[in-house]
Amino acid sequence: FSEKLIVDDNALFKIKNEIQAEFSHGLNYHGTDVSMIPTFVYGLPDGTECGTYLSLDLGGTNMRVCEVNLSGDRNFSISQEKYKITEDLKTGEFTELFSYMAKSIGHFISTKSQSKQGQRIPLGFTFSFPVDQSAINSGKLIGFTKGFNAKNAVGKDVVETLQDCLNKQNIPVDVVALVNDTVGTLLAHSYQSGGAKIGAIFGTGTNGAYLEDLTEIKKLDDEAKNPKAGSKMVVNTEWGNVDNARSVLPITEWDDIVDSASINPRRQSFEKLISGMYLGEILRRLLVDLHAKQEFLSNTSTLPEAFNTQYGLDTALMSDSLRDSDGETTHTKQVLGALGVSAENVRELDAQLFRDASQLIGLRAARFSACALAAVIESEASENAAGDINIGLDGSVIEFFPRFEQSIRDALNVILGNQAEKRIKIGLAKDGSGVGAALCALQAIKQGVAKK
Ligand code: BG6
Ligand code: GLC
Repeated sequence: FSEKLIVDDNALFKIKNEIQAEFSHGLNYHGTDVSMIPTFVYGLPDGTECGTYLSLDLGGTNMRVCEVNLSGDRNFSISQEKYKITEDLKTGEFTELFSYMAKSIGHFISTKSQSKQGQRIPLGFTFSFPVDQSAINSGKLIGFTKGFNAKNAVGKDVVETLQDCLNKQNIPVDVVALVNDTVGTLLAHSYQSGGAKIGAIFGTGTNGAYLEDLTEIKKLDDEAKNPKAGSKMVVNTEWGNVDNARSVLPITEWDDIVDSASINPRRQSFEKLISGMYLGEILRRLLVDLHAKQEFLSNTSTLPEAFNTQYGLDTALMSDSLRDSDGETTHTKQVLGALGVSAENVRELDAQLFRDASQLIGLRAARFSACALAAVIESEASENAAGDINIGLDGSVIEFFPRFEQSIRDALNVILGNQAEKRIKIGLAKDGSGVGAALCALQAIKQGVAKK
């Protein structure tokens, strides 16, 4: 199986080129797979921004309500509360999900917020799914990703829906900005480091945002190309949807099963090779296959339930297994125990295989990730130019998967060359979206588009 999971250097270039071609197609036309969504965020923060804003963050592992205080010196303080999104909410009626979000905001205000009674509070809404954005504070859902599948949602304006739910519950909050998590991460990292080139997420899903020249966003109406506001705009690429045609991605039989059994087959093809929602599932499908061939846990005729349950093998277990260095198996044996395999059935060989497969699937994901980052920064990184290239990253995979960042770096070195790779400064913009949403709310209010 190992040869099938190896991404050679040639493939890195091919994939990076495909991403760039799909980026430019998406900048020219509406309705493309890689949506290249104009965000109506003109320019990036420089660290001097001030104020207190609420933010709501939906789309990662947790839903969170935050109150962010920007102190204008690149620092901030944040108070937050996490709220659970049940499977029923993810797949039930769309308005129920949004009512629950409004209720959670109401709960936060009455328990944690410092805002004065009677005062209306501006909120930046981080909604980490593709939306067809028509202004900084409005956008219609194109489609859910990452296991969300709430009904009757596609085509609905998500800001309007949240605002209606807040109004119905008499919660004194104005949703003034709509933000993707990548955009939030970009703004937050820019605020903290005085400038950033990319905000990207490697978590449950994967995606990236960057600042583009307005002249390059050819599909944008003239009205939106408002020179008063600035000559650049942040674009949310939605790179998770790259190469659905499978022209360059080396899809294995295990990826194929993961895809066809998912709720969105032949969509988010790139994301399904990279992000935390899928890595464990790819490993599970591979191990089930190897068991059938008597190459894994052949001491037992039936695998424990977790192995026979879709998404039953959490990506976090791969990270746990990779706490073992090459040749060791102590942690991996614990992982197999947690998955229900009894100790007497685990041969050294099985534990080694689990660990090695986890490593290969993770390494492959990191190399694909580097292709996306390189696609954005290649022009910036031409060998002669100097200066740091700051990129802000967030998400459970980049944060917790062992050696993920280093493997990204190694592949960037191949694609962009050593000089350029050295200039790239990767910052973990942990919980960046909350701060980014606050910065976006501030920009919306400045643009004068905030709801009264
Ligand atoms: C969080 C951000 O820190 O990271 C979210 O606040 C983002 O907006 C998330 O979606 C991504 O990570 P994960 O692993 O939770 O999907
Ligand atoms: C999915 C979403 C995208 C989001 C990413 C990371 O790809 O479509 O909007 O940014 O996940 O959370």
